[in-house]
Amino acid sequence: MKLPDGPKTPPWLQKIQYITDPLGYMDNGYQRYSDIFNAPVIGNYKRLLLVSDPEGLQQLFTRDTKEFYAPSNRLLEVVVPDKSIFCLEGDRHRRERKLLIPPFHGDRMRNYGQTICELTEQLFSQLTPNTIFSARSVTQDISIEIILNVVFGIHKVERFHKLKQLIAEFMDSFTSPLISSLLFFPFLRKDFGARSPWGYFRRLQQQIAQLLYAEIHKRRSQYDPSCTDILTLLMSARDEDGEEMSDQELHDELITLLFAGHETTATAISWALYWVHKYPEIRDKLLYELDSLGDSPQPMSIFKLSYLTAVCNETLRIYPVAMLTVPREVKEPVELMGYQLEAGTRVYGCIYLTHHREDLYPQSRKFKPERFLERQFSVYEFLPFGGGIRRCIGEDLAIFEMKLVLATILSNYELALADNQPVKPQRRGVTLAPSGGVKMIFKGKRIV
Ligand code: HEM
Repeated sequence: MKLPDGPKTPPWLQKIQYITDPLGYMDNGYQRYSDIFNAPVIGNYKRLLLVSDPEGLQQLFTRDTKEFYAPSNRLLEVVVPDKSIFCLEGDRHRRERKLLIPPFHGDRMRNYGQTICELTEQLFSQLTPNTIFSARSVTQDISIEIILNVVFGIHKVERFHKLKQLIAEFMDSFTSPLISSLLFFPFLRKDFGARSPWGYFRRLQQQIAQLLYAEIHKRRSQYDPSCTDILTLLMSARDEDGEEMSDQELHDELITLLFAGHETTATAISWALYWVHKYPEIRDKLLYELDSLGDSPQPMSIFKLSYLTAVCNETLRIYPVAMLTVPREVKEPVELMGYQLEAGTRVYGCIYLTHHREDLYPQSRKFKPERFLERQFSVYEFLPFGGGIRRCIGEDLAIFEMKLVLATILSNYELALADNQPVKPQRRGVTLAPSGGVKMIFKGKRIV
């Protein structure tokens, strides 16, 4: 049986293409080699496959842990530390998911609804009418505040002003291709002082760690098990030997949740603002649906709106914030999509290419929310949050936040795009974000 084929250019050149123009690289690979191809662009793996066939993805996600093992994600090792859920494997990983999933779902998550709407209004009411602002910066402000609320508890966030600033600076540094390259080329990780990319990056990480350890020590000394925030929950958790989490374990998980829990959502909301204002007919339809709920609708009524759901799904489809799932590793030789894969092969679900399959999404480059009203897609056809045992634990919170922030902005304020130029997607670390951050004009309060 044959091995999957792929581009013949040297791997280092493919890596550079993938870093600087990820969509171009993937589109070319798909046109030439179709649903599965070899793309040695991450780490030093010679056999690294990108899969965009729903049946192949189903095999990958449902044969999880048997043939396809979900290893620690080394690409993110620069951003998230050793004891993060991203880096845990096997039973430890499963246990950590069990602990972390409940606070991001169901009633616990619904409690954040009012806070999300209030925070959005608060931040927008500070903008001056007829000024230009970056949608991505404002949505980042909103989503950092929300995740700080969730992780550390409501009403305590004022204490985290400095932390918020440092996290934003850390994430923004990934718009620099040089800093993004640190993820892909370990040999660039050399500290030549605070002005060198790695030196700057490490110092920011150290400052964030200091603040988090200080908070952990403070909370340990004033421990209150009745609090429902995630830090308290993690501090209360015990493993099967009755051991509590160490300070380092707490720190590593807090970092993960703070980073993974806001950057992606902020990007998704800024894309949604772009699409909705690029197509006035879509904005009008959305407003019609939102206005049908009357004054001061309940967050859960907003959440259930069908056109709003379709707009959010289409936003996450067309430029998925995460282009790839995290990898799976072949444990023993296995067949996938008619190919024989050797042990050690790395396989990534390619979210971006799956979302642009013409057999699933005709005219895939067009923003058409209606496609989500006309047809149901399986979890192997529409997968902005990945799949299987590493599927995103924050999916419900992210969707809830996206819908409430978008609804609050559109119902209360008038915005417009600052110019008619199409906004292009651009790499931001491992994510895909709008280049330039979507410049918009804040016109003021909406007059109904
Ligand atoms: C629009 C927003 C978001 C997108 C597009 C997104 C996407 C993803 C994707 C694609 C994965 C990898 C899944 C896989 O490989 O199968 C992931 C994992 C993860 N996400 Fe999200 N995410 C978002 C928001 C959030 C939020 C709000 C949180 C808050 C806690 C979060 C926390 C995590 C964590 C902890 C993992 C690792 C799960 C594991 O390894 O078991 N994400 N996310």
